[in-house]
Amino acid sequence: MTSFLNLEGRIALITGSARGIGKAIAETLAARGAKVIIADLEMDLADETASEIADSFDVETLALEVDVADQASAKAMVKSAVKAFGQVDILVNNAGITRDGLVMRMKEKDWDMVIDINLKGAFNCAQALSRSMMKARYGRIINITSVSGLVGQVGQANYSSSKAGLIGLTKALAKEFGSRNITVNAVAPGFIETVLTEELPEEIKEISLKLTPVGKFGSPQDVANAVAFLAAEESSFITGVVLNVDGGMVM
Ligand SMILES: NC(=O)c1ccc[n+]([C@@H]2O[C@H](COP(=O)([O-])OP(=O)(O)OC[C@H]3O[C@@H](n4cnc5c(N)ncnc54)[C@H](O)[C@@H]3O)[C@@H](O)[C@H]2O)c1
Repeated sequence: MTSFLNLEGRIALITGSARGIGKAIAETLAARGAKVIIADLEMDLADETASEIADSFDVETLALEVDVADQASAKAMVKSAVKAFGQVDILVNNAGITRDGLVMRMKEKDWDMVIDINLKGAFNCAQALSRSMMKARYGRIINITSVSGLVGQVGQANYSSSKAGLIGLTKALAKEFGSRNITVNAVAPGFIETVLTEELPEEIKEISLKLTPVGKFGSPQDVANAVAFLAAEESSFITGVVLNVDGGMVM
């Protein structure tokens, strides 16, 4: 058996991993031997996911409650994670929401909430972990952005801005942390079938499909596979990049 992308001995913290893409990422990292921390707002679901993964992959798991938008909450979560496992080697900033609406009607609270969770949330978690990762001289930070952050979407001024900002954050952190053997990369999913996209109108789904050269929607597993690569030792010479997982939608 190949040991390619082996994560045994690594501790991974994935935000927003109680369900959806985050859960698929946690499962995929656990399948490669990592201990995983399921950090989410929804504690009941996070507990369920953590025990499911522990049973399926025979790895230690931990569920932690966090509101990534709240700096004190992110700090407390990181403190609990480090207390439980000694360190965190891999941080996946996956927690994200949408509050779509045309600019003319967009409420200030919907702008603020999306920016606070999707962009400031990633900053909060990376900052809270930066000291221990620097001390360990090892780290992998992976930010889940979106093709919306690359091209902009009608009705998603808040979401597109947050995800474009996340790409800027990725590159700034890659430069700040690079000399300490900490890589920082972004993964930009296209249309992935999850709860987030389930409720979109059929018309939008059809348009998205037409814009995707491979002619199908992606799965959470497609995103998780890319994250596993960027989380592993083998990607040590890759930092500051945005890896599109979008079936060719944006190129
Ligand atoms: N589904 C897609 O097509 C798609 C496409 C591009 C990018 N993405 C991105 O992928 C990520 C995951 O998306 P998904 O489709 O799995 O969404 P989802 O809604 O299924 O899951 C998001 C998770 O984040 C958690 N969460 C929300 N706010 C939080 C907060 N403040 N603190 C901590 N946890 C919080 C939720 O409880 C939930 O478990 C998001 O960042 C999203 O923007 C998704």
